[in-house]
Amino acid sequence: MTGRCSDQLSYRPSQEFTAEVVVVGSGIGGLSFALKASRQARVLLLTKKNAAESNTNYAQGGIACVTSEEDSVELHVRDTLAAGAGLCREEVVRQVVRDGPARVAELVELGVRFTERENGGGNLPDLGKEAGHSKRRVLHAGDITGKELERALLSAVRASPNIRVREDMVAIDLITSKKLKKKGPDRVLGLYALDGATHRVEAIPAPMVVLATGGCGKCYLYTTNPAIATGDGVAMAYRAGVSIANMEFVQFHPTCLFHPAAPTFLISEALRGEGGVVVDGQGRDFTRKTDPRGSLAPRDILARAIDEEMKESGAACVFLDIRSRGTEFLERRFPAITSTLRGLGIDPAHQPIPVVPAAHYQCGGIPAALDGTTQLAGLLALGEVSCTGLHGANRLASNSLLEALVMAHRAAESLPAKLARLPKPMTVPKWKEGKAHDADELVVITHNWKEIRQLMWDYVGIARTQKRLLRAQSRLRLLQQEVQEFYWDFRVTADLLELRNLALCAALIVESALRRHESRGLNANADYPRLQRRAEDTLLRPGEI
Ligand code: FAD
Ligand code: SIN
Repeated sequence: MTGRCSDQLSYRPSQEFTAEVVVVGSGIGGLSFALKASRQARVLLLTKKNAAESNTNYAQGGIACVTSEEDSVELHVRDTLAAGAGLCREEVVRQVVRDGPARVAELVELGVRFTERENGGGNLPDLGKEAGHSKRRVLHAGDITGKELERALLSAVRASPNIRVREDMVAIDLITSKKLKKKGPDRVLGLYALDGATHRVEAIPAPMVVLATGGCGKCYLYTTNPAIATGDGVAMAYRAGVSIANMEFVQFHPTCLFHPAAPTFLISEALRGEGGVVVDGQGRDFTRKTDPRGSLAPRDILARAIDEEMKESGAACVFLDIRSRGTEFLERRFPAITSTLRGLGIDPAHQPIPVVPAAHYQCGGIPAALDGTTQLAGLLALGEVSCTGLHGANRLASNSLLEALVMAHRAAESLPAKLARLPKPMTVPKWKEGKAHDADELVVITHNWKEIRQLMWDYVGIARTQKRLLRAQSRLRLLQQEVQEFYWDFRVTADLLELRNLALCAALIVESALRRHESRGLNANADYPRLQRRAEDTLLRPGEI
């Protein structure tokens, strides 16, 4: 039993707002789904910080989608499959790429303001270019695409009478029939969530829970992800008995700003699409040694080239040089990046930008169909938390927002059939409180958190070996034991809950990497440099960690 259920079945659904569906997460996946689902059902949306806080909010490059006559579904499919290094599911790739234009059109209808072409381009969107794309196909809102998406989606969600948004609510664990030792096939019955305002854990009955909780970039010391990215959804699903796929494929973005005052700030790949070149401290382009596409090689290849260069030279960073485009262009095309850099004393029109690779995206996750269905009845997974087969062993740039949009739509489309089969919400057991915690223990939580992120960076980064992975595994086992003790002995806090999830996700990444005896896409292992003939998913079943 992983939850802290009490024997009392005392919680009853709130009289004020009874929802048929509970959504966890307010990024593009959760918000898009809630909005569409609200036309057919009442939706309770829980999110652990303020509603805009999400990976979505920081997206820069944009949404990859076929909208130009020079482009085609076939080309987008081909680029996605090539980046995915043989592990994508082609039928999934085709569906997502085909659905893209209709989903993007809906965003425009909703009020999302994509940047339009200049010089007589009419209302046509300006299309960015990113690594691995054979055509310009990335719709963007300047360099703050994610903020614009969150703005438009959140205002529509807040205007819907059928959606109730509760901020500062940390989902802890799913309540399932198996956990409650009920007969019959296992299914979701609800979830526990910590209310940050009252510090109380609520038991929320819900026959359908939609996890849209994003990724686990915070497992690593250096990441482009904001603090929310602690892998909560993957951890909750695994503890509820759901298998987890392909967690070894952690994508490292090649160009995160190297600056102590802004360690997670991304320097968008779109800069490279517009002529930016990655160079060493002497201004030499070293990237063509490994791939003729140089700075526009897919992320796995470029991040590895940078990692090798830094290890060989001992340099703390490399540089992205976009001086060739000049002040006027940079201010117009990348206003937010340019002004942030200037605020830090770096003028990108006159100086190369110091950059390093950093953990960016979780390609694996909860195995899910494109309508979010998972192996556990009543549980849906949408967006980065899921693993549909679109990204394979390495995600193509700007395909993530697209995937979340397509999934949210398909999940809402299939909702009536799912709702018709749902059991009525039932009473679920109250949460069992632990003892009050003391200050000393809270310090240990911070230490453990740092230790995990450091060891993942040192031993489970861009270049792996079995020895380093085993070292990480044995340390993580000890850390997980400690975290479990805290969890059982003390009253839970948001930090402790996130640490518990982070530790589990780190262990899932390490175990998955240990099981993949090949170097494919983002999983580069010096002990297994070759590709296996057959591309297979890594599946970790409950109880294997
Ligand atoms: P998120 O947007 O991460 O939202 C997750 C939500 O779940 C958040 O609201 C969070 O608070 C909430 N949550 C998490 N755990 C809990 C819990 N336990 N209880 C309650 N709530 C919880 N992709 C692209 O396609 N194009 C880009 O240009 C692009 N740029 C990016 C730039 C940056 C800096 C980063 C970090 C990522 C970028 N990505 C981009 C990736 C993309 O932004 C994400 O993959 C995508 O936004 C994920 O959406 P999501 O809805 O699945 O999750
Ligand atoms: C970027 O702007 O470089 C991020 C794009 C992505 O992660 O898809």
